[in-house]
Amino acid sequence: MAVKRCIKSAFLITLLAVLCQSARVKKFPTYIQKCHQSDQDFEKCLLKAVQIIKPHLQDGIPEFRLPKMNPLTLPEVGIDAGAGFIAKFENVEIYDADKFIIKKFDVNLAENKIKFDLTFPHIRIKAQYSIFGKVLFFNLDGSGPADGNITDCRVIATMNGMRVYQQDKQYLKLTETVVDDIEFGKPEFKFYDLFKNNPELTEQTNKIININMKALLDDLRPTLEDTIGKTVLEFIGRVFSRFSIEELFPK
Ligand SMILES: *[C@@H]1O[C@H](CO)[C@@H](O)[C@H](O)[C@H]1NC(C)=O
Repeated sequence: MAVKRCIKSAFLITLLAVLCQSARVKKFPTYIQKCHQSDQDFEKCLLKAVQIIKPHLQDGIPEFRLPKMNPLTLPEVGIDAGAGFIAKFENVEIYDADKFIIKKFDVNLAENKIKFDLTFPHIRIKAQYSIFGKVLFFNLDGSGPADGNITDCRVIATMNGMRVYQQDKQYLKLTETVVDDIEFGKPEFKFYDLFKNNPELTEQTNKIININMKALLDDLRPTLEDTIGKTVLEFIGRVFSRFSIEELFPK
């Protein structure tokens, strides 16, 4: 008897736990005022909502399944610029990317598109780099820690998507980010140990790399656009795959 009761209550506890969990999983952040599709100022309302969400990004937003965003960690970023130049960045940590200024966040439900215009006043990047190949007029073959600061980096992009249906609910499935423009602002990087045992040459090379940084970043533009596009898609995509259009933007 006792065993049976015990099993029964264990079952009940499990059931309760599951129910509580699924209720928690679908909870919407209480501090966000939803924007209605019919709102005359839908776009303005969205901008305001993003402003309210912004300070919460630092520690992550569990309701949106968004991880801690300061630092933002990226898996390996590989750059193959052709002509035998290969760079790899691992354990990439991006600081203060959550402190962006947003000028546009336009969700176009009729066209299944989101357009945004973001400026990052200051971001710091730390990573482990390895670089092989010719950069400017150096033949590089080095690896070590990299540290960078970028001020006033602006990204203007469009995310395209399509409607998908799940249990009678419509979702906006975001499929790609088309970067319309990136302004790199003022970048300043330091690559430690570029030439092992030759700190002087390492420093000289870093100086020259930084003088030419804008041109270098321009060469790497396709890879950087791809990485930034995929990262933004991953984060915003999570919100839209979690909540239906109706749940996000009631009629
Ligand atoms: C980036 O900025 C931080 C904080 O201001 C500074 O300590 C660091 O040396 C800078 N890194 C580079 C590569 O300029």
